Amino acid sequence: MKKVIAIYPGSFDPPTNGHLDLIQRGSKIFDQLIVAILRNPEKGPLFSLGERRLMLESMTEDFKNVTVDTFDGLTVDYATKVKARAVLRGIRAISDYEYELQMALMNRKLQPELETVFMMPAEKYSYLSSRLVRELATLGGPITNLVPEMVEQRIKEKLDPAIKLQNARESKARKR
Ligand code: PNS
Repeated sequence: MKKVIAIYPGSFDPPTNGHLDLIQRGSKIFDQLIVAILRNPEKGPLFSLGERRLMLESMTEDFKNVTVDTFDGLTVDYATKVKARAVLRGIRAISDYEYELQMALMNRKLQPELETVFMMPAEKYSYLSSRLVRELATLGGPITNLVPEMVEQRIKEKLDPAIKLQNARESKARKR
């Protein structure tokens, strides 16, 4: 039987525990899942594409059928390029539905062979979004348990370069 490849496209700025939850669920039902980060220079992201890729690679290293890639242009064109038959998207609350439905139907019009599969993340992540994590972190709020520990560290370093310097010093001292 043909293997089912799915893409999970998004901005992932930063990747959250909600994304990870969905990747975990997706990896169970698809033969191969490609986490596809959109290259979108207009958005002025917190993390560069390379940084987001490294974080997602580290988060997904235990999932043998999950890979991370980047793309630009239309999601449907990228899906065709990698021979994906499905697009995975997460729906948290009813408020997501309208936008997601619109996108799924537009993608279907562009590429009728490509199916969009919606999955719900765990309830505890139903209010979680990258935008809220960015806002919370910028204003000094706690982001523990909202993002993986490594991402939390990267966010702290990004917002306070002094922390980055301190961590580099500590890591150097440990290696001695
Ligand atoms: O994480 P996000 O920001 O909700 O992801 C949105 C994303 C990347 C899935 C969407 O913006 C997208 O597919 N962009 C690529 C351009 C495209 O195909 N646009 C038409 C969609 S109908």
